[in-house]
Amino acid sequence: MSFISSGNEISFDKDRIIVSKTDLKGKITYGNELFIELSGYSEKELLGSPHSMIRHEKMPKTVFRILWNGISKGKEIFAYVVNRAKNGDYYWVFANVTPSFNSRGDVVGYHSVRRKPKQEAIAAISELYGKLLDIERRDGVDGGLRALEDILDNEGISYEEYIISI
Ligand SMILES: Cc1cc2nc3c(=O)[nH]c(=O)nc-3n(C[C@H](O)[C@H](O)[C@H](O)COP(=O)(O)O)c2cc1C
Repeated sequence: MSFISSGNEISFDKDRIIVSKTDLKGKITYGNELFIELSGYSEKELLGSPHSMIRHEKMPKTVFRILWNGISKGKEIFAYVVNRAKNGDYYWVFANVTPSFNSRGDVVGYHSVRRKPKQEAIAAISELYGKLLDIERRDGVDGGLRALEDILDNEGISYEEYIISI
């Protein structure tokens, strides 16, 4: 059985980018046309809603922990994410999430730019996410973070290096 067993994969052109912005709490403040189209929601439904509105149940919590730990400290984070559209269909993205700063250097919100990932990367990340989901069911997010650290330590690479290598 494939990693995602419900809904259909939504395809989009590899040259297009999907953009959204959030406030500090992760509420959506902006979505470009493609973001809105793929979500299946209206702009009105999206704006002001938590970004977890499009969370897919196959996304490990561990990945979002890494995301928020990084961006809340002002770092940019890369991640493969599968999102769930309103009707239950899904689409994979390669996301680059960055903090937005004001003129005083404070983080005032976040910005995500996403592209279509390569098929090989989806296969590799699905295998990892499957493992993390199993571990999270047993040992929660802390277990997921420890397991990911062990996997990366064994390979001798950082999270960023792994993400860029697949
Ligand atoms: C700029 C930005 C973009 C995000 N994009 C997504 C996204 O496309 N899909 C998603 O599931 N979560 C996204 N998140 C993470 C969500 O805020 C949230 O942490 C995640 O959906 C998990 O939900 P939870 O934190 O309620 O467990 C994004 C967060 C930020 C700051």
